[in-house]
Amino acid sequence: MKNKEQILVLDFGGRQSQLIARRIRENRVYSCVLPYNTDLKKIKALAPKGIVFSGGPESVFAEDAPGIDPDIFDLGIPVLTIGYGMQLMAKMLPGGKLEKQQDREYGKSELDVIDRDGIFAGVEDSQVWMDHGDRVVKIPEGFIMSARTALTPVAAMSNHDKKMYGVQFDPEHVFTAQGTNILKNFLFEVCGVKTNWNLDDFIDEQINSIKEKVGSARVISALSGGVDSAVASALVHRAIGDQLTCIFVNHGLLRKGEAEEVKETFAGEFNIPLVYVDARKRFLEKLKGVSEPEMKRKIIGEEFIRVFEEEAGKLGEASFLVQGTLYSDVIESGSDTTATIKSHHNVGGLPEDMDLDLIEPLRELFKDEVRKIGEALGLPEEMVWRQPFPGPGLAIRIIGEVTEEKLSILREADAIIREEIKEAGLSKEIWQFFAVLPDIKSVGVMGNERTYGYPVVFRAVTSNDAMTAEWARLPYELLERISSRIVNEVDSVNRVVYDITSKPPATIEWE
Ligand code: XMP
Repeated sequence: MKNKEQILVLDFGGRQSQLIARRIRENRVYSCVLPYNTDLKKIKALAPKGIVFSGGPESVFAEDAPGIDPDIFDLGIPVLTIGYGMQLMAKMLPGGKLEKQQDREYGKSELDVIDRDGIFAGVEDSQVWMDHGDRVVKIPEGFIMSARTALTPVAAMSNHDKKMYGVQFDPEHVFTAQGTNILKNFLFEVCGVKTNWNLDDFIDEQINSIKEKVGSARVISALSGGVDSAVASALVHRAIGDQLTCIFVNHGLLRKGEAEEVKETFAGEFNIPLVYVDARKRFLEKLKGVSEPEMKRKIIGEEFIRVFEEEAGKLGEASFLVQGTLYSDVIESGSDTTATIKSHHNVGGLPEDMDLDLIEPLRELFKDEVRKIGEALGLPEEMVWRQPFPGPGLAIRIIGEVTEEKLSILREADAIIREEIKEAGLSKEIWQFFAVLPDIKSVGVMGNERTYGYPVVFRAVTSNDAMTAEWARLPYELLERISSRIVNEVDSVNRVVYDITSKPPATIEWE
């Protein structure tokens, strides 16, 4: 962001850099993330008040280990290097030496602080989170050792004159007890940055810049039922009022009540011009006979674009399209390292040849910040706190062909799960919870009758970022209630099973 004091986080791989940036923003200081190999000229132009090197999964001894322009250490900008970042700094500066460790240090350790100055001012001896296979054995010239653990003699090193710091542990990790204090010291004592990041100001700034960009032109937006498109559209509406028209394509693959909620909130409560397209039949028609998951995704993604284009065409001249792109999408779209396990086509993706300029008011925000903006704009809690929901919706939770009958069974079972989890007060603790309908039937008995019906799979996971997930350890009583309600209340279902597989080796969704 221009004209704003900021802290730059250089990303050396892994997802840690995003968490560091969020922790910095929690201290109301603006931070941005760039890849480690960003040109030094660009970094200079940003003029950050401090630079953080994130950790990363590589070993500094690896042949193609990520490196950095050595001139970065001569910019006179304070530096905090973490994990891999610290090892790289120690390797690059004169006098530093590293070695490969016999045993990887992984997990909680007790930090013994030796030098309570700089980032360690007022920091007590306390628990830290460690995860490394290499270690610094000689610190570079001009540095002093600032902390150690039983296994790691140089757990932290400082050069107070040059304002350069290295920590081997993860200060952003929840298990690092004094992590927040260490980060605060870096921000406010070492870098001398002022607080400048709050979401109310952000809303005002965005409103002004959207007004300026749009002028008197017309803007369209695709609502998906998800948080991001809802918040982005509500924000744009706040800026330009009825110059915005929202298009909501109901593909019939949403959960129970969600389409109605979108309609009520946007057309009703907010009075935003809304084109509601009932495309349920059209999507079902296209999905007829299709059971391959990636094929379903492709069909839904393409059909969505087709319907959207048709509707946008009817509206006449529009110059801008609102997109709910988040900062994590921006950071990740640069890197192409993770293997494609599922294509994750986002329904609501941009029709590429529509020739519209984009308005992406959430481009700089993390998900939790988007939720706060949503709350500030007065969107309903249910919408703002909605759990992640795949673009292709229930189509990838019905194994095999998608039919109206199966959609209706799944919707009812899913609604019971949602009700019960909410009632138990666990909605915000569990990352995702939902029902899956497999393509099999089994025998049961109800009253004195033999039944032959569908099983429903109940899936509930805890996670931080959906990259890995644990199956949720729910109370037996809750599982019992959900099971008996589904079997009693949903026709054609005679069995409920709970999925006790984590990710990996499974994935969160079944398709
Ligand atoms: P998996 O199943 O890969 O899911 O563990 C990880 C996260 O991504 C969501 N997901 C999708 N989101 N389009 C989306 O927009 C998709 O096709 C899709 N498939 C999975 C899933 O719900 C979880 O949050």
